[in-house]
Amino acid sequence: MRMKKIEVSQLTENFFETISKEWMLVCAGNAEHYNMMTASWGGIGWLWNKPVAFVFIRPERYTFELAENNDVMTLSFLGHSKEARNIYQVCGSKSGRDTDKTKECGLTPLVLDGKYTAFKQARLVLCCKKLYADNLKPEAFTDASLNETWYGKKGGYHKMYVAEITNAFIQED
Ligand SMILES: Cc1cc2nc3c(=O)[nH]c(=O)nc-3n(C[C@H](O)[C@H](O)[C@H](O)COP(=O)(O)O)c2cc1C
Repeated sequence: MRMKKIEVSQLTENFFETISKEWMLVCAGNAEHYNMMTASWGGIGWLWNKPVAFVFIRPERYTFELAENNDVMTLSFLGHSKEARNIYQVCGSKSGRDTDKTKECGLTPLVLDGKYTAFKQARLVLCCKKLYADNLKPEAFTDASLNETWYGKKGGYHKMYVAEITNAFIQED
């Protein structure tokens, strides 16, 4: 199967459902050096008159290093198949620092528009270009319970990346 480019404005996904229940692979880097991880937090929206994605990555992830050092990232949505669930489990529990997740998951990397690394197994890929990034901070929480629940023992403060969605690709029938 091949992927076909569509306008971002053609997307009719319910991203509340998609991100929270289907999940996604966040992949940062380039064709030679990339890494991906499962994410189920994030958002799709409209900012600075652009379609944008909001991605939250904890500093301990290997993907964080790649996100910091590259201008682009992709969001790959794999669907609900058994194969997809397995890929999400592996990419959400093992680190690219010590595991070749591409090999272990049987993923086929794909370079879209010359610079966006994603995966052939995706039903939908959003190609994203970083615009803004900042660390979440304890003093910025207006609901302190979230800070207590999600940080400290659970891990470091996420960095939020706001990225322009420059293109979307779907599977060609
Ligand atoms: C369902 C699910 C959702 C996750 N969402 C996020 C997320 O939004 N941000 C994050 O930093 N880590 C998230 N993780 C954890 C990373 O996917 C996990 O730590 C992964 O092994 C990191 O891999 P890496 O070290 O190769 O980057 C999630 C894990 C799972 C299973």
